[in-house]
Amino acid sequence: MEKYTKVRGMHDILPDEISKWQFIEKILTDTVKLYGYKEIRTPLVEPRSLFERSIGSESDIVSKEIYAFKDRKGRDIALRPEGTASVVRAFIESGMSAEKKVFRFYYYGPMFRYDRPQKGRYRQFYQFGIELFGSKHPFFDGEVVVMLYNIANKLDLQKYYILVNTLGCPQCKERYSNLIKDYFSTRENHLCNDCRRRIITSPLRILDCKNPDCKQAVSNAPVIENILCNDCKNHFKKFEEYLKVNNVSYKVDPYLVRGLDYYTRTVFELYISGEENAIAAGGRYDTLVHQLGGPDIPAVGFAIGMERLLSLFKYNGPVEPFFYLACIGEDAKIKGAKIINELRNEGIDVETDYEVESLRSHLKIANRAGANWCIIIGEDEIKREEFIIKDMLSGKQVTIPFNNYIKGIKELLKC
Ligand code: HAM
Repeated sequence: MEKYTKVRGMHDILPDEISKWQFIEKILTDTVKLYGYKEIRTPLVEPRSLFERSIGSESDIVSKEIYAFKDRKGRDIALRPEGTASVVRAFIESGMSAEKKVFRFYYYGPMFRYDRPQKGRYRQFYQFGIELFGSKHPFFDGEVVVMLYNIANKLDLQKYYILVNTLGCPQCKERYSNLIKDYFSTRENHLCNDCRRRIITSPLRILDCKNPDCKQAVSNAPVIENILCNDCKNHFKKFEEYLKVNNVSYKVDPYLVRGLDYYTRTVFELYISGEENAIAAGGRYDTLVHQLGGPDIPAVGFAIGMERLLSLFKYNGPVEPFFYLACIGEDAKIKGAKIINELRNEGIDVETDYEVESLRSHLKIANRAGANWCIIIGEDEIKREEFIIKDMLSGKQVTIPFNNYIKGIKELLKC
């Protein structure tokens, strides 16, 4: 028989890990809702060209990592490698831009990139992202970064920092790209093969290359600050003011460019000291909505990589208290069948095993499952019309009469 294993680069999230995921998911959604974000769910598949036109066909994500296939009608389809392009597509397609000025969306789900699997890099990974449409004001850039910062604080992440930069408006970005092209045209021999090609196809990507030789070559490259137009300079200044007034500790990294084509002006990434990969990243993309066939609406957003966040998050969260029901004998089992249903209807978490006959075996199961209390009903309890509740940690036992037992159990949960 063939032995099945998961596809390379994919991973299961098993029940033991799920409380940590759910704990973080709740903090993320509760936080972004406070800022007015509404959930949006888009399909996992999109036309391949959507990603070519937004992220860029020369980007690694599209040129090397896209999961693409033809459907039965020969259409070019791709599994989404990120959420921004899909949200923009849905925003335009729904026509909702006419409804109001500023829109805030959040999304959560799996993304797919055919990356080389390694620590912090999966082929299916979860992103929690937000996108804000409708304003060019730099304070919105500030607001989303502050929100990310607040999330990092709420999760009590240790030694994190935020890197920020500006890529300028499309004109500044173009000028900077040409400057970088000229700079590296005379330094080709310091670059990896990919970057040599990038001098022609996408010069700014050289600044993002992780190859140590390229990193060295980049360290003296021209920075954008000196060639920014006044509007872009002011935008970045106002953005920094917003961060300062909110005590966000950040560093300007003049070579932070991001690996996706659609960014304009502000870009940022969240890191943990000593970790190579960013936990979250984003920026402004003022031309994308228009570029994909929509109105001229500016936007800003970010996405958090859930696996990377989870690997660094220490979970001491509460484990939901739960009961195990041990019924010994047929009469007790019938009584138990009613009680277990009533308790569950009261929102109390109870488990049992109907096949088990002895108290010893029941207690063993309750222990293994990590139950906080065991409700015990045997022949004697049926006669006395009460049951025993055993505290699994201390071993202490109390009896509760059948009549009004829900109240008794609720009292117990309050202690
Ligand atoms: P990104 O930098 O490509 O940006 O991805 C955002 C985050 O997703 C990364 O910081 C990382 O935590 C996680 N991530 C990316 N690739 C992988 C992988 N192979 N395995 C595990 N985690 C990964 C975007 O996707 C943009 N859409 C963000 C954005 C939203 N910009 C504006 N709005």
